[in-house]
Amino acid sequence: MPEKETPSPVILVTGAGKGIGRAVAEALAARARGRAASGTGPAAPGVKLLLAARTQSDLAALQAELQGDGVDCAIAAGDLAERPLQPVEACLERFGRIDALIHCAGVGRFKDFLEQTPEDLEFTVRTNITATFLLLQRAYAAMKAQTPGEGGMRGQIQVVTSIAADQPFPQSSTYCMSKYAQRGLLDVMKLYGRQDGIRILEVRPGATYTPMWGEMPPDQVVRMMTAEDIAQPMVDALWLSPRAALEHITLRPLHGDL
Ligand SMILES: NC(=O)c1ccc[n+]([C@@H]2O[C@H](COP(=O)([O-])OP(=O)(O)OC[C@H]3O[C@@H](n4cnc5c(N)ncnc54)[C@H](OP(=O)(O)O)[C@@H]3O)[C@@H](O)[C@H]2O)c1
Repeated sequence: MPEKETPSPVILVTGAGKGIGRAVAEALAARARGRAASGTGPAAPGVKLLLAARTQSDLAALQAELQGDGVDCAIAAGDLAERPLQPVEACLERFGRIDALIHCAGVGRFKDFLEQTPEDLEFTVRTNITATFLLLQRAYAAMKAQTPGEGGMRGQIQVVTSIAADQPFPQSSTYCMSKYAQRGLLDVMKLYGRQDGIRILEVRPGATYTPMWGEMPPDQVVRMMTAEDIAQPMVDALWLSPRAALEHITLRPLHGDL
């Protein structure tokens, strides 16, 4: 999306019901309402949002809030592990194009290596690896078929991996495995994206206090980042110069990992 003109981009956010994805949706809606969330980027009146997650009630509440503020916003509830292409299909059906995919949906089951069951492995792989691959492949194909905009850019894909995509953590064997796999996929996609004018950004957050963590002691919470801390640079990155590709961001708590 160019800096000077902002022609109603269509943006699909997965995992939009909670946590980082929800914060991304809120930050995008702020731009759609004409306010740059961080003050560093342009407002983008007219931006259209397709919000996806599993829980219908989360999405319906967010949609009501954003539509009440005049944001053009549709929702698609479903399990990516069952129907990985559904969010992209819903976006194309509703808006006819997809300018950016911000893939925040992800899962983790945190327990010792020897405690991880085949079901834990399957659960993690189906969402974080298989569904991610198929979702990104579908979005990329749709973007590649679009007429390029300024700078030859056809679309943008951002994926929230984790610092666990290049660093081991205890109790995280299935999670780390899946996040390393996401990083591998994105590194290959960058090779294609450079040819096709599709910007690929991998976002690696450290500890961020979201529903994924459940209840945490207050002395730990104060050391963690917020979902908004992650969402802000992601949204800002959408409006970088179309001549440049930011390919990787790592965000850590100021005082280091938990
Ligand atoms: N929080 C952290 O400290 C942290 C750090 C590094 C990386 N990350 C990564 O950041 C991403 C977002 O994490 P978060 O902390 O925001 O998690 P979260 O608070 O648990 O939110 C996850 C969102 O993704 C959706 N989702 C999960 N699995 C899905 C599936 N199979 N199909 C459709 N939607 C699905 C959830 O929908 P429902 O709630 O409806 O199931 C929810 O809206 C994940 O990939 C996570 O690994 C998080």
